[in-house]
Amino acid sequence: MLKLETLKMLQELYIYRSFGFTYYKKRDIAPQKPHISIPNNMNELKKSVLGCFLCDLCKMRKNVVFGEGNLHAKVMFIGEGPGAYEDIQARPFVGNAGVLLTKIIENVLNLKRDDVYIANIVKCRPPENRVPTPKEANMCKPYILKQIELISPHIIVALGNTSYHYLTGDERGITKVHGEIMEYKNAKLIPTFHPSYLLRNESSKKDAYQDMLKVKALL
Ligand code: URA
Repeated sequence: MLKLETLKMLQELYIYRSFGFTYYKKRDIAPQKPHISIPNNMNELKKSVLGCFLCDLCKMRKNVVFGEGNLHAKVMFIGEGPGAYEDIQARPFVGNAGVLLTKIIENVLNLKRDDVYIANIVKCRPPENRVPTPKEANMCKPYILKQIELISPHIIVALGNTSYHYLTGDERGITKVHGEIMEYKNAKLIPTFHPSYLLRNESSKKDAYQDMLKVKALL
């Protein structure tokens, strides 16, 4: 139960007691989901995300990293969450992983970074670049789902385990599923390795390259 609901219930019990009640019939109070209204256009959505305080990540962030790129992109890349550079610049994938992602977009897909849309599952940097908790990711998920709906890409590239898992709900690891072409909403979703992983595991680059050739073929 949310803290607020517990407090409200306690307050109610104190009031009953002050009226002389000694017995209170337990009733179920359905936990209320925090109300968030999700705007239906990108500008309003961005404003709403920039003012989001739904999870604890808001306390540590320097900036919200909403996402950027072509609003009519055919390809959308979805990462995990901002790192230190992204947090400072309020832009996704601008650190070392971003340099590699940009090279992949330009050299393998023969596109410009501005041609695609890039966003993350969580919009605020998790401290020490840890993996977002399920609570953080699920709180933020309506935002990425709305971004997908508004952009309506042909292809979604899920970068790494966290992105793939929270988009699809599938628990299988990226080494198992990378390169599979899946139906996702109105798009094809292709999971592949996260660029940060590729920087640490050079040997997976050839697999990631094959995954990107599939993206290119679908374009
Ligand atoms: N890693 C991510 O998942 N996203 C970014 O924006 C940067 C690094």
